[in-house]
Amino acid sequence: LANTFQGDGEPLIASLALSGIAFATSFAMIRWLGPTLMKAGLKGVDMSKTNRREIPECVGGVVAVVYLLVIIVFIPFPFYKDIVAATSGGGNRDVVVVEVLEQVERGRLLHKFPHSKLASYLSAIISLQSITLLGIGDDLFDIRWRHKFFIPAFASIPLLVVYFVDFGVTSIVVPIPLQPYLGELVNVGALYYVYMASVAIFSPNSINILAGINGIEVSQSIVIALLLAINDCLYLLTPYPHPATDSHLFSLYFLLPFLGVSLALLWHNWYPARVFVGDTYCYFAGMVFVVVSILGHFSKTLILLLIPQIFNFCYSVPQLFGLVPCPRHRLPRFNARTGLLEPSVTPWTKTRQPKAPIAWGLKVLGTLRLLRVTLDEEGRFFETTNFTILNLWLVWRGPLRENRLALEITVMQTVVGFFGLFVRHGLAQLIFKE
Ligand code: UD1
Ligand code: MG
Repeated sequence: LANTFQGDGEPLIASLALSGIAFATSFAMIRWLGPTLMKAGLKGVDMSKTNRREIPECVGGVVAVVYLLVIIVFIPFPFYKDIVAATSGGGNRDVVVVEVLEQVERGRLLHKFPHSKLASYLSAIISLQSITLLGIGDDLFDIRWRHKFFIPAFASIPLLVVYFVDFGVTSIVVPIPLQPYLGELVNVGALYYVYMASVAIFSPNSINILAGINGIEVSQSIVIALLLAINDCLYLLTPYPHPATDSHLFSLYFLLPFLGVSLALLWHNWYPARVFVGDTYCYFAGMVFVVVSILGHFSKTLILLLIPQIFNFCYSVPQLFGLVPCPRHRLPRFNARTGLLEPSVTPWTKTRQPKAPIAWGLKVLGTLRLLRVTLDEEGRFFETTNFTILNLWLVWRGPLRENRLALEITVMQTVVGFFGLFVRHGLAQLIFKE
């Protein structure tokens, strides 16, 4: 890192300092604005408690706004040197010719100003602002699932436009075993934009559906952000200037304040939660990852870090696409007698039974211990557990306390994430020439 500090280190220190401020400000704002949010009707019932209290919801909107302000204040820092270079004039030499020469010189320097880097920053901010706006809209009006699914696609347009103008790289590296047939690079053209838009839709939504127990939305986001930051530091440790240094510094500038606001939120959202994060936070967190990984050119690394979310999404498909009924809430069921969480279930009745192929699939999943299937005396479906990773974990581990479940899932995610990073940096060399 020492080299990075010599090269471009000051903005990183400013970013660290601003992240501290972001933490402190979010912490205070969450406390101050909690009652205000409740008064405005932004509240939710904590369903996994004996006394089902209402607590403020949409606190993610508060921290997202703090984050955006901090990121906006930060804009001048990475450009400080360029701005100084472009605007520094002479002292008190008031000869006209000198002034003209200086203006020419200044014009040349302005010409060298990294406009494309600034465009990346600004497009990232526009994307994050759009997703926050749409997220708050969702928390206020409870948009239907099939409508809100595409919200992030709109927010990703500014990113994709900047990607198109500035980089426009749409080729992918072919794994060594396939290179004799396909060549070293394959240009996938417009499909690459479809792929990036899909990542943008997937990341926020996948965080929103791995939810429903205190702390889990924030803790999974913190784990992903930390792993992305570690991945950035691995690049920054290489001798400066590495071609990827700039994009990984860019990524850190966006991740550090995110960690700041998220830690303040986790403090209040961890079991027993005093606030709920709302859909705003899930969308916003997912979009932060999309922004850094698309503009930093490492969207494949992001995918490796989203393995638990990808599993949860694929596992959820039968309910998301209506093959199995999907209740409004699929969060684990709180057993008030034991104080423990149990898998929540979809009930089946005599008249409402799954169609033959679905019934077969459910039984196979049951045999594989990927679902708990309960049949009645006549062999008809009585209930099946809901298709989320949280319920599946409870099927495997038995009833757990809410904080225990959140902790175990977070640890599992950290382990899987480190494995993802290992694949990226260790195995990738074997299949792709670096
Ligand atoms: C998503 C999930 C839904 C899950 C919900 C929980 C899908 C398709 N949707 O819906 O199954 O039940 O998240 O967040 O998978 N809540 C708690 N404890 C918590 C967090 C939330 O009781 O720790 C409850 C509160 O009543 C809160 C509500 O969940 O008000 C928030 O749900 P919301 O974020 O609106 O649900 P969705 O994101 O639509
Ligand atoms: Mg939600």
